[in-house]
Amino acid sequence: MKKILVLNGSPRKDSVSSALGESLVSAAGEAEIKKYNAYKMNAKPCMGCGYCDKNKGCCFDDLDEFMLDFEQADYFVISTPVYNSGVPAPLKAIVDRFQRYYALRFAHGVKPPVAKHKKAALVIAAGSKGEGKDEIKAMFERQFTVLNTELVSTVFFDGTDTRAPDENTSAVIAQEGESFFNS
Ligand SMILES: Cc1cc2nc3c(=O)[nH]c(=O)nc-3n(C[C@H](O)[C@H](O)[C@H](O)COP(=O)(O)O)c2cc1C
Repeated sequence: MKKILVLNGSPRKDSVSSALGESLVSAAGEAEIKKYNAYKMNAKPCMGCGYCDKNKGCCFDDLDEFMLDFEQADYFVISTPVYNSGVPAPLKAIVDRFQRYYALRFAHGVKPPVAKHKKAALVIAAGSKGEGKDEIKAMFERQFTVLNTELVSTVFFDGTDTRAPDENTSAVIAQEGESFFNS
């Protein structure tokens, strides 16, 4: 059965990005789905200590379960709001903690550092026009080149300051999900 890892970067209970991510995942069919929220994970930020250059793994163990889920996943769905042209700080902390795989690749020579290939979808919500969404996409795309992960689908919903997604939005995103999970 396909394994899906979902990571949401919003602190809000009625998160638009999370709801849109759910619409996408609703099209997955039978799957083992593991969901995380960056604000609940309280990830320690990378300290740039070089531990992962000398050892295989991280000096912190708080993300070990998440990283194992990542390694085992076939599909990786990230949903996030735009915060000041980037992602919210708790999500950025998690992004930086993937450094252990850069170290595996470039310090330890493990190629690929993540054995299982993954397909990724990125769902971004923004209050206004979403300046910064391209930077967020570029950040993940660059990182995925090392993580044996391919960004297949990007969904963007802007203007949440003045509008909310409606049924049509959810239907369009679910359709996108169908092609993503069948890609
Ligand atoms: C701290 C903060 C920074 C934000 N920065 C931006 C921004 O740079 N551009 C933008 O379009 N929206 C910005 N927003 C608005 C959010 O992206 C928007 O409300 C989004 O829909 C929230 O998604 P969520 O419901 O999943 O939390 C910001 C909101 C907050 C709280």
